[in-house]
Amino acid sequence: MEHRDLGKSGLSVPVVGMGTWRTFDVNGTALEAERKKIVDVAIDSGANLFDTSPMYGEAEDVLAGAIGGRRDGVLIADKVWTPSAEEGREQIARALGWFGGRVDIYQIHNLVAWQTHLPVLEKLRDDGHVRVVGATHYQHSAFGDLIALMRTGRIAQIQIPYNAQDRVAEKEILPAAADLGIGVIVMRPLGEGALVRRSPAPEKLERLAPFGVRTWPQALLKWILSDPRVHAVIPATSRPERMRENAEAGTGPWFDADTRHYVSRLIS
Ligand SMILES: NC(=O)c1ccc[n+]([C@@H]2O[C@H](COP(=O)([O-])OP(=O)(O)OC[C@H]3O[C@@H](n4cnc5c(N)ncnc54)[C@H](OP(=O)(O)O)[C@@H]3O)[C@@H](O)[C@H]2O)c1
Repeated sequence: MEHRDLGKSGLSVPVVGMGTWRTFDVNGTALEAERKKIVDVAIDSGANLFDTSPMYGEAEDVLAGAIGGRRDGVLIADKVWTPSAEEGREQIARALGWFGGRVDIYQIHNLVAWQTHLPVLEKLRDDGHVRVVGATHYQHSAFGDLIALMRTGRIAQIQIPYNAQDRVAEKEILPAAADLGIGVIVMRPLGEGALVRRSPAPEKLERLAPFGVRTWPQALLKWILSDPRVHAVIPATSRPERMRENAEAGTGPWFDADTRHYVSRLIS
């Protein structure tokens, strides 16, 4: 697994991690044991960066349980997501409880009440409970606000959508992130699964074999990671074998411009 420095933050992250939206919002011993198998594979494959949020129901708790005593060997990207200062403090206290008193990357989810939460996260960073403070948004219409926050110098990381079909990020926000040395984690790398379902015929993937790509999801992930302005992708899955497949995309060689163009044409 290749690692990249998350912008100027200096935090080294594996290029493939894992998201937990929907997939980790489960209850009960059997389902939680299944989710632990996915975390086992992620850790075993070096994809030990886990993104979660209080927005994802049981996901933070289930993720923490699956990690168990392996906290020191993983990176947690969590979020605060509420308009309320008080609820924000409660979310943070719960997260610190679940994740051994520290959250490696603490993000303001969808910029909700960022003016309220940012000073709290900055203090946690200064006190050593947080390594990197960042912010996320899933909508292109919010990229302007995200860029304005990036320019204040107060956040060191962003999480945005970007994939071979959704390239809006290339216009302004990725160039701004590169200029400012801001770390970039890519959400929805498989278009919430929709891109995977548009798989081309297997023979179309033969050209990608020299890049270590054997499946269409790997081609999609490698397309994103071949942009050096991106530091990590966090595909979510409810199946251990898919976690391994996704993690395999985290090693070079990376696509050149022609190959990226070829893969984006396979989608359209
Ligand atoms: N505003 C925000 O901050 C925000 C917004 C959106 C997402 N996120 C974060 O980004 C993460 C990723 O985004 P996402 O979960 O929306 O979408 P995604 O990772 O693009 O797609 C997830 C879907 O892809 C399928 N999948 C994964 N690997 C696969 C493979 N190898 N082969 C076939 N299907 C595969 C999964 O189905 P199976 O379960 O059946 O494998 C799942 O339905 C989230 O989990 C969350 O942590 C953050």
